[in-house]
Amino acid sequence: MSFALKESEGTWAMVTGASSGFGAAYAKRLAALGYSLVLHGRDTDRLQALADDLQAEHKCRVETLQADLASDEGIARAVQAADRPGLRILVNNAGYGDPGLFQEREVEAFIAMQKVHNEAAVRLAHVAVRRMLEQGSGAVVNVASVAAWLPGRGSVMYYATKAFLNAFSRSLAADLHGTGVVVQSLCPGLTHTGFHDAGKPAYLDKSRTPRWLWMECDTVVDFSLRMLGRGRVVQIPGVVNRIFAWVGGHDWLYRRLVGNVRKK
Ligand SMILES: NC(=O)c1ccc[n+]([C@@H]2O[C@H](COP(=O)([O-])OP(=O)(O)OC[C@H]3O[C@@H](n4cnc5c(N)ncnc54)[C@H](OP(=O)(O)O)[C@@H]3O)[C@@H](O)[C@H]2O)c1
Repeated sequence: MSFALKESEGTWAMVTGASSGFGAAYAKRLAALGYSLVLHGRDTDRLQALADDLQAEHKCRVETLQADLASDEGIARAVQAADRPGLRILVNNAGYGDPGLFQEREVEAFIAMQKVHNEAAVRLAHVAVRRMLEQGSGAVVNVASVAAWLPGRGSVMYYATKAFLNAFSRSLAADLHGTGVVVQSLCPGLTHTGFHDAGKPAYLDKSRTPRWLWMECDTVVDFSLRMLGRGRVVQIPGVVNRIFAWVGGHDWLYRRLVGNVRKK
């Protein structure tokens, strides 16, 4: 089922985690295509600065929403913002890393990540899809990760919540088959965004990873939008990431080649 990205007249797109990285890149691309935008984030200054820039450059409507998606109240406000006539694109992108061995962390940290990466995405998709069905067209993009394919020592819930997004997206696409509403689960690998910034909990030392492992944020978002409604539901940008996902999908091969990579 194809999706005409450019039919944006009078329609809304909502992007979670738009204050930075992939989310900001989606917002810029969709504003350029003429969409009215609901931009979500927590950092109100960065969110408002982006909204002001996009309004000035593209003369588009932009609403901002500050909400912590780790809270019931934040999710409820985001759902309310998504539940609007004319919503045509939802990008479930908000997310973060929070490394630490499972046995050494408090369980609440894992549940919080599950809320941001999964519960918020499911609740937002639910209202969004119903709105999209009213107009017979729409797209839900869930930003997962190549981590969805890998076993991840020291980041159990990150890998598990991203794997959930792949499974959720594939089955949601099956439910929506033939309706005009398409679904994508985007699985980026290492990408230059705010995710790996100094001061944030780090999975890796950016300066010690080879440059060829990294992609540019805009390249990944362009790929995502280009592939909307085309081919597979699960989309992996970049050959290197596709190889990682393939190897990760074969447990015996992954263990043989990579082993238990993150030793303490
Ligand atoms: N960069 C990578 O290498 C990479 C690779 C694979 C997948 N991803 C995924 O890509 C998505 C976007 O991340 P990014 O790389 O663009 O990183 P980023 O630049 O750090 O952006 C993350 C966004 O998520 C928002 N966010 C984080 N925690 C939140 C919470 N509790 N409630 C609401 N919003 C929250 C942030 O909001 P504030 O900044 O306003 O707090 C920010 O807008 C994430 O789902 C991440 O898992 C990233």
